[in-house]
Amino acid sequence: MNFWRQLPKPFFALAPMEDVTDTVFRELIASYAAAGKLQVLFTEFMSVEGFLHDIGHKKVIHRLYVSSREREILKSRGIKLVAQIWGSDPENFFKAGQQIAEQYDFDGIDINMGCPVKKIVKKNACSALIKTPELAKDIIAATKEGSGLPVSVKTRIGFNQVETDNWIGNLLEVNPAAITVHARTQRMLSRGFADWNEVLKSVQLRDSLNFDTMILGNGDVSSYNDGFEKSKIFKADGLMVGRGVFRNPAFFSDQKILEPGQRIQMLKNHLLRFQEEWEGKKSYSILKRFFKIYVNSFQDATSFRADLMTTNNYKEGMQVIEEFEDSLAAVPSELTQIPV
Ligand SMILES: Cc1cc2nc3c(=O)[nH]c(=O)nc-3n(C[C@H](O)[C@H](O)[C@H](O)COP(=O)(O)O)c2cc1C
Repeated sequence: MNFWRQLPKPFFALAPMEDVTDTVFRELIASYAAAGKLQVLFTEFMSVEGFLHDIGHKKVIHRLYVSSREREILKSRGIKLVAQIWGSDPENFFKAGQQIAEQYDFDGIDINMGCPVKKIVKKNACSALIKTPELAKDIIAATKEGSGLPVSVKTRIGFNQVETDNWIGNLLEVNPAAITVHARTQRMLSRGFADWNEVLKSVQLRDSLNFDTMILGNGDVSSYNDGFEKSKIFKADGLMVGRGVFRNPAFFSDQKILEPGQRIQMLKNHLLRFQEEWEGKKSYSILKRFFKIYVNSFQDATSFRADLMTTNNYKEGMQVIEEFEDSLAAVPSELTQIPV
């Protein structure tokens, strides 16, 4: 079943982000989301070559791990979960697609054709596929055939320069279920502004060719309302949000302001759930990115965050949090609240 076609418009998705959108963060984001404000989540990207390799397999499968807690929350809220994969060989996409469909319970598979990182581009994968459009189409077709799941693509608007018409037109020929257009070229990395006119161009192209591929716009969506406005102006069926959740971890909730207590509660939940799911399997230092996300926009956040950054394990982390909570209890809340 192609769930993409059944989503309300505009729909919102949390972007796949390496070392960020693991099962724990997805669980938190989904549990803070207001009803109907978040429809699709993605895993971190997993190499199909690694997945199919005897030794590599163990190193990469954590990216597809879904906890029972996350599964329950997604189910109760009707949020879809898509596995993102990357590679360069259609045969491997066929085999990996087949195994993922058999062994896991994802609603779809997404192919990364956007990652600009040099060492990956050198492997002719991800954004490098923009330079080999025939191979890109073969990869989509092989993944569809192997998995039988809805297959989507996340990509950019060109490699060195903008070539939306050619590149998105090429992808549409094999009718992916959805295309996320991150409106920057490979060369731009994360710099400059996303050019949303290229999202509009992709939608118009899709319409003129009469395809039913959903088009998601991505790049610099700063708030839920901003995404909603962008969908109206640039006609995107869906919006994908990445770094917007760093600025506001309750991006998909109804709240404009997260009180310090709520931020700290979210931080504590994250620390505890991360420990439950990953202790001994992933480095504690991965959490440091999240300290920056949760601990800001309130009084004394800078020193609290600095203290957290010096911690080396869960016990030390929790101790610093509890000490800060004790100090906070002594201050009236209107003095500590800064609008986000
Ligand atoms: C820390 C980080 C990790 C990312 N990892 C991935 C990834 O694994 N797969 C992917 O397709 N894009 C990845 N991206 C790109 C985002 O999905 C998104 O396209 C980009 O951040 C632009 O959207 P934004 O302006 O809303 O952040 C990553 C971005 C960040 C900041």
